[in-house]
Amino acid sequence: MSAVVIVGAQWGDEGKGKIVDIFTEHADLVVRYGGGPNAGHTLVVGDQKLVVRLIPSGILREGTRCVLAQGMAIDPASLVGELDELGRRGLLHGAGSLVVSDRAHAILPYHVLVDGLREQTPQALGTTRRGVGPCYEDKAGRRGIPLGALRDMKRTEELVGRALAHWGPVVRALGGTAPSVREVVEPLRPIAERIVPLLADTAKLVERAVRDGKRVLFEGAQGTLLDIDHGTYPFVTSSHATSGGACTGSGVGPSRIDWVVGLVKAYLTRVGGGPFPTELLDATGERLRQRGVEFGSVTGRPRRTGWLDLPALRYAVRVNGLDGLAITKLDVLTGLPELRICVAYDTPHGRVDELPIDDVASARPVYETMPGWTEELGAVRAMKDLPEAACRYVERIEREVGTPAVLVSVGSRRDETIVLKQPFGG
Ligand code: GDP
Ligand code: IMO
Ligand code: MG
Repeated sequence: MSAVVIVGAQWGDEGKGKIVDIFTEHADLVVRYGGGPNAGHTLVVGDQKLVVRLIPSGILREGTRCVLAQGMAIDPASLVGELDELGRRGLLHGAGSLVVSDRAHAILPYHVLVDGLREQTPQALGTTRRGVGPCYEDKAGRRGIPLGALRDMKRTEELVGRALAHWGPVVRALGGTAPSVREVVEPLRPIAERIVPLLADTAKLVERAVRDGKRVLFEGAQGTLLDIDHGTYPFVTSSHATSGGACTGSGVGPSRIDWVVGLVKAYLTRVGGGPFPTELLDATGERLRQRGVEFGSVTGRPRRTGWLDLPALRYAVRVNGLDGLAITKLDVLTGLPELRICVAYDTPHGRVDELPIDDVASARPVYETMPGWTEELGAVRAMKDLPEAACRYVERIEREVGTPAVLVSVGSRRDETIVLKQPFGG
């Protein structure tokens, strides 16, 4: 197995950072293929915690090359900030360890401005306000700025002028003041000087690595239900968070992908607006939030919490073609006397076993109850050492969605993990 895709199977924050970091032990290349600084992937090593937004979660492993591919929306200022932070912590491993696609699109201050202003209107979606949506709008509108343009600041100036001609009236209508071309371009110059040396045709590089049999890990951002095509539209992000995005976002054909792993939190969370049928607005929901430390790693917002949704997971298995599940945060369920699990939905057209993505609002979850457990799980390293009820819970998920667990995570640290199958067959 040479090319492995890791994808969020829910509404994001499933623990992709931790699992990508673990799987990177066996990888030569880690490729982020979509999203931008809206992502927040947490890495915990020893008592150190690091949240990466743009930089792949493989960055902690020396000898692994990290790629920011062309499906991404990259804020040059954020990227430089993240590089500085990594540098301060001594985590940058020399020239060539980080490569950035010259076709990834730049998030510039007017994108962030528009995102923030829109969030103050009644149409607010609860975005991360990082300018990701407006940047992808520019890309689709063919007025975006690929990072390669930073090699020629005269060209960048022209492109910024073109973009501002579009955004100026939008900003004014939202009650804001758009920056001038100069106000955008001048602060960008020193940043561009730092980024240009990192730029490359990453599509070629990644495809070549896969073809040469190198072990390549594709790191998804966000999650299936936030995907622009497959998510709970319009309460979605603006990129392709599903596994197909690994191909379009990195320039590798689907026939080259060997294995797709879906990340599944043992319960469910969502940040921002939109439907969430199994949401818990009671003390149990609060307990999950506190025990699971469910506060946004980008915005600090409390995450909404709820019971595991198997119909939504079946949907994720289908649209991503999942081969295996990495089930995270099982330890957070410890101490709940019983667990509810959504097994189907009642809809105006009858009972269905998959989340009715186009009519989530009128679907009512059908629950079954399973026994809980009281033992702490942090020290468990093998399935046989899990309490009986926890084991049943994992097996139930596998059986219901017809996909095996390849990993079970029982804590935020690297070692708090039960690895059942190694990603590259190692
Ligand atoms: P990502 O966006 O999918 O990478 O996930 P986030 O990093 O935003 O959120 C996941 C949070 O859960 C982080 O704080 C992780 O450190 C933490 N985490 C990951 N796996 C586990 C686990 O198995 N148990 C517990 N208790 N925390 C975990
Ligand atoms: P990771 O990679 C959770 C959500 C936002 C909002 C919607 C649109 O850490 O799992 P955007 O800023 O993308 O335009 O916001 O998408 N969202 C995420 N939720 N985890 C993420 O990333 C997210 N990235 C975006 O909260 O509801
Ligand atoms: Mg996150």
